[in-house]
Amino acid sequence: MATDREAVVWTRMSMRPAKMGRIYLTGSECRFTYAEDFLKTGLPGLGVVYPPGIIQRTTIVRQRTEFFDLLPPLQSLVPPRSERNFQRQLILGYLADKGIVPAQGFDADWAILMNAGHGGIGHLDVFENDNAAMDWYRFPQKQDLRAVTDEFGFTLKEFLTWFSVDSDVLIQLIGPSPSVGGAIPKLLVSIPKSGWDGRIGLPIRDGVGGLIDAILKFEQTATYPGIIELEALALDLHEEAGFEVPRRWQTEINGIPTLVIERFDRDVAGTPVFTETLYSVMASGDRRITNHYSTSYDAIGRAIESSPIDLVREKKEANLHLLKRLLYALATGNGDLHLENMSVINRDGTLSFSPVYDPTPMRAYSIHNMLTVMPFGGYGEVHLKEALLRFAANLGFKQKKLTDLIEEVLSVTSSYPARIKALKKLPGANKKNLIKIVSAMKTDLGEIK
Ligand SMILES: Nc1ncnc2c1ncn2[C@@H]1O[C@H](COP(=O)(O)OP(=O)(O)OP(=O)(O)O)[C@@H](O)[C@H]1O
Ligand SMILES: [Mg+2]
Repeated sequence: MATDREAVVWTRMSMRPAKMGRIYLTGSECRFTYAEDFLKTGLPGLGVVYPPGIIQRTTIVRQRTEFFDLLPPLQSLVPPRSERNFQRQLILGYLADKGIVPAQGFDADWAILMNAGHGGIGHLDVFENDNAAMDWYRFPQKQDLRAVTDEFGFTLKEFLTWFSVDSDVLIQLIGPSPSVGGAIPKLLVSIPKSGWDGRIGLPIRDGVGGLIDAILKFEQTATYPGIIELEALALDLHEEAGFEVPRRWQTEINGIPTLVIERFDRDVAGTPVFTETLYSVMASGDRRITNHYSTSYDAIGRAIESSPIDLVREKKEANLHLLKRLLYALATGNGDLHLENMSVINRDGTLSFSPVYDPTPMRAYSIHNMLTVMPFGGYGEVHLKEALLRFAANLGFKQKKLTDLIEEVLSVTSSYPARIKALKKLPGANKKNLIKIVSAMKTDLGEIK
C-alpha cells in the first residue's frame, strides 16, 4: 500500500516569501488547498485554471494518472523520466552525492520535487515542509559573479556528455535547485544587468541590484550541430516580426556554443512573475491532454475563446499571436511549436502570451523534419491552403486577414535562406535541407491569396 505524502507550496511573487498552500498526495489523488493567508493577498495562484479568488478554501482534487501524478503546474517542476534528460540526471547525481538514491519512477519524482522543486522557472517553490521553505529563503546567498571559463569549464564540458558522475563542482557553483523542463542542457544563472560579459553567479533570490536572471543553453554538438546559432537566428526573426523576444547573447563557453537568454519570469527587481506553459494550462483544464502535443492549434484557440476561466485577457490579440506563431513556425522550418514552447504570463494583473522562446527551426535536423507537431485546420485531410483558411476561421479571422499576415511573414523572412547559408556552424547538408524546406513552404504560402 502506498503511503500518503505531504508537501507545501510557497512563492516569492510578492517579494516576501509567502506560503501558497498544501499538497496532499494519496495513492490515487493529488490534492491542493490554498493557505488562508494567501487567499487574502489577491495574488495569482498555482495555475491559470486554479484562481485562488474562485477556488477559495475548496480543496482541488485530481485523480492521479500515469501522465500526471501531480496537478499539472506542479508536475511541470519535475523533469520527465528520461535517462537522457540533462536536468533530471543533474539532480539525481546531486542526490546520489548526498546519499539519497530513490527508487525509480514516482519515488524519484518526489525526491526531485522536494530537493529541487524550488528556485526554478516560474513562480512556484515546493518544499517538504514550512521549515524547509523558511530555511531555504533565509539561506544567505553568495551573489558574486565568477568568470565561467576556468573555474568549472572542464566539469561543464564533462556534463555535456550527460552522464558525468562528477557533478559536485558544478552543483556547488550553481546550486542544486535550478530545474527547467526540456531536453537541452540548460543552467539557471545570474549575469550583469548590462548584459553578458563572461561571468555568472547563482540565480537571484532577493532583489540584488546590478544582476538579472538568465538561462544558459548549451549546444549538444554531437546531436544538433549548429543549433545555437540557428535558435539565435530564429529569435532575431521573431523580433523582426514584432514579437516580444528576451535579450540574448550568443557566445562560446570553453568551445561549447552557448546562448544566454534573459528570463521573462522575473521582473526588473528579480521578483518571480506568474508564468505557466500552455501544456500545464491545457492539461489542468482537460484530462485528455496527456503529453505536450496531444491537442491541436485549433483547440488552443477554442480554449482561449471559451474557457470558463480566462486564460488571457485579450482573446483576439491572443488568437492573432497564435496564428502568427504558427505561420512563422511554418515559414522558418520549426515543426516543434508544442504546448511547452508557449506560455502565458501575468504582468501587472494581466494575463497574456509570454515573450517568444525556443522557436528553433528543428526541421534542419532530419529526425525532427515534420511540418508541425500538432494538427491545425484538418491538415492532412485537406491541403495546406484549406487547412490554414479553416484554422484562421476557427480563430475568428477572415481570409483577407490571413493573406495579409502571410504577405507580412513572407516579407519578414525574405532574406532567411541567405541568412541560413551564412551560418558558421550548421553543417552544409542541414543548411541545404532547411533552405529546401523553407523555400517550398514559401511557394505554398505564396499561393494562398
Ligand atoms: N527566457 C525565458 N524566461 C523564462 N522561462 C523560459 C525562458 N526560456 C525558456 N523558458 C522556460 O524553460 C523551458 C525550457 O526552455 P526551452 O523551451 O527554451 O528549451 P528546451 O525545452 O530544452 O528545448 P526543447 O523544447 O527543444 O526540448 C520552457 O518550456 C519555458 O517554460
Ligand atoms: Mg522547449
